[in-house]
Amino acid sequence: MKKRDRIQRYSAPERINHWIVALCFMFAALSGLGFFFPSLNWLMNVLGTPQLARLLHPFVGVVMFVAFLRMFFRYWQHNLPDREDLIWAKNIHKIALNEEVGDTGRYNFGQKCVFWAAIFSLLLLLASGIVIWRPWFADAFAIPVIRLALVVHSVSAVALIIVIMVHIYAALWVKGTITAMVEGWVPAAWAEKHHPRWYRAVREQQSRPTQQEKRP
Ligand code: HEM
Repeated sequence: MKKRDRIQRYSAPERINHWIVALCFMFAALSGLGFFFPSLNWLMNVLGTPQLARLLHPFVGVVMFVAFLRMFFRYWQHNLPDREDLIWAKNIHKIALNEEVGDTGRYNFGQKCVFWAAIFSLLLLLASGIVIWRPWFADAFAIPVIRLALVVHSVSAVALIIVIMVHIYAALWVKGTITAMVEGWVPAAWAEKHHPRWYRAVREQQSRPTQQEKRP
């Protein structure tokens, strides 16, 4: 594909950061499901032994949170709701048939929902995770608080797992999306079709003369 037909969407540091989040998520989710469901206990071996998984799970969770925070501060402005989201949500049946509606910016309403659901559940996971973290912090809390934290931790983990399953499905299902996070670019036709407002903004920026060109 010619350079003109591609648009840069993510830099290398942004992609590395995203894959750190994704890897940590995989490990934390698989080991966590292993702790929670007796029938899935075998998943505790994802990183060697159940003891190792138990030791590493909270640390990996903290790394995931910190890495996601970087994504949060980088993308939150692009994920603020706007009027186009309403059009997108009202026409979800057309979206499901791979049609596009509205003048979508850098992210569509579905992606925005994933973004906010991820930060919300990660905040709950971190707060509840600290309360139940033995042997470091749990002793500082009363038993009823620990019980409540266990419920919050489990519910928010299941919610995040469902949200990320939808995210992965969308990333693979919408043709042309995955290269964004693997190689950093997307086909121009993809951008024009799925994110027309963002596409116009990028093209406009590209057509502006650089400082050097402006110099007499
Ligand atoms: C194997 C797992 C994953 C795959 C295949 C995947 C794939 C992708 C792809 C292709 C994009 C680019 C979408 C675009 O720019 O239009 C993306 C963006 C993103 N991903 Fe993932 N991802 C995975 C895991 C995760 C996890 C675990 C999280 C968070 C906990 C996450 C959070 C995000 C966020 C916040 C964005 C930017 C979109 C936005 O801000 O709305 N991803 N991902």
